[in-house]
Amino acid sequence: MSADHVIAIDGPAASGKSSVARALAKRLGFCYVNSGAMYRAVTWRALQRGIAVQDPDAVTALAEEARLACALINDESRISIDNFDPSPHLHSDEVNRAVSLVSRVPRVREIINLQMRRCVAGRDVVVEGRDIGSVVFPETPFKFFLDASPEVRARRRNAQGQRDEIAMRDQADSSRQTAPLVIAPAAERIDTSALTIPEVVEEILKRLRAKGLSRATVNSRR
Ligand code: CDP
Repeated sequence: MSADHVIAIDGPAASGKSSVARALAKRLGFCYVNSGAMYRAVTWRALQRGIAVQDPDAVTALAEEARLACALINDESRISIDNFDPSPHLHSDEVNRAVSLVSRVPRVREIINLQMRRCVAGRDVVVEGRDIGSVVFPETPFKFFLDASPEVRARRRNAQGQRDEIAMRDQADSSRQTAPLVIAPAAERIDTSALTIPEVVEEILKRLRAKGLSRATVNSRR
C-alpha cells in the first residue's frame, strides 16, 4: 500500500509549506495532502470533548476511539472526525495552542500515519508536514525542507491574522521524542525568507526536473 509519486514538503510553522505544496500540486497535476490538518482535527475533537490534552493517556484513548478519515476530494485531502467536518475550527487559537501536545503522543502519530498512507495509496501526491520525508514516506526521493528566519515566519503568521505562538510550537515539535521536526537525510533545504511563493515553486520544479520528475514524465507513463 504505497503512493505512486510522493513529494514531501516539511518545515516549521509559517515556512510557506501550505501555499507552496498546494501550488506545486496544481502545477504537477498531483493531489495536495495537508498532514497538519489531521493533527489539528484530533486536537479540535479532544478540546470539544473536554479531554485533558496535556495527558498523553487521555489523548491516546481519544485517538483510539475517534473515527478519523482522510479522503482525496477535488485533488485535496479532506478530513472528517466522528462524522464532523472540523475544517472551520482547525486554525482557532485553542487548536494552535494545544496541537503540539496532541501531536507528541506516539499513538496519535501511528493512527494518523496509517490513515494518511491509506488515503494516498496509488496516487501522485504532494504531502506537507513535519515528518513526511523522515518518517511517513522515507523512501521517496523527492524531499524538501522549507525554512525561513524566525522574524519572517512570525510576520507571515501575523499577516494571516492568527494568534499563534509559532516559536513555542516549533520548540515543542523539534524537541519531542517521536518523529521530531528534523531535516530528513537527503532532503533539499530551501530558505524561503526572501522568496515569493511562485519563486519557491519554480525552484522546487527545477530541482524535481533535475531528478527526472516533471508533469510530462509522470503523464507519459500513464
Ligand atoms: O502550518 P502550521 O505550522 O501552522 O501547522 P500545521 O502544518 O497545520 O501543523 C500543526 C501542528 O501539527 C504542528 O505544529 C505539529 O505539532 C503537528 N504536525 C506534526 O506533528 N506532524 C506533521 N506531519 C504535521 C503536523
